[in-house]
Amino acid sequence: MISAGKRIAVLVSGSGTNLEALLRAGNLGGDIVLVGADRSEAYGLVRAREAGVDTVVVPFRAYPARDEWDAALFTRVAEYEPDLVVLAGFMRILSRRWTSHWPMLNTHPALLPAFPGAHAVRDALAYGVKVTGATVHFVIEEVDAGPIVLQEAVGVEPGDTVDTLHARIKVVEHGLLRQAVTLFCHDRLAVNGRQVMIT
Ligand code: GRF
Repeated sequence: MISAGKRIAVLVSGSGTNLEALLRAGNLGGDIVLVGADRSEAYGLVRAREAGVDTVVVPFRAYPARDEWDAALFTRVAEYEPDLVVLAGFMRILSRRWTSHWPMLNTHPALLPAFPGAHAVRDALAYGVKVTGATVHFVIEEVDAGPIVLQEAVGVEPGDTVDTLHARIKVVEHGLLRQAVTLFCHDRLAVNGRQVMIT
């Protein structure tokens, strides 16, 4: 049975092209009810406002301790009672407070478990791989290590820079993230240990 109307919160730190892909998707099976950011300069906030979506900024640097910031952002997101939290280029690590409370999806610009971390595109290029890609996975406490929902390969081309390669990966990420969120919203993702079954 399709359960429409899931409430989705999206967290961003940067330009928000992945957010934009979700905002433009016709039939996710849910509504983006909130876009949150850890910095007021995140352009994703502008995209959200233009789409008429509520935004909240909880600046990381305004808090003396990581856990205080983490708790403050959690409280603001919880007010919107999301069924799903999507990390769409959100560059901060969140605590167990989050991962034990909501299903969360993250998009990562490499084929995990290769090249985890904040510099995946740079690291893949530096390693000299011929193929990298994009991964959408459920978030667990360990960074970039949760059960994998979708992956797609992207070839590295001669002369690629971090920017040119990342641009091609992002195009793939947009499709994968849209697809993963849609599957989640239609209750079509079943997690069994590390395996994610698409039902
Ligand atoms: C994406 O490649 C995401 O995987 C990475 O940062 C990028 C964010 O892009 N963590 P955007 O802000 O969605 O344009």
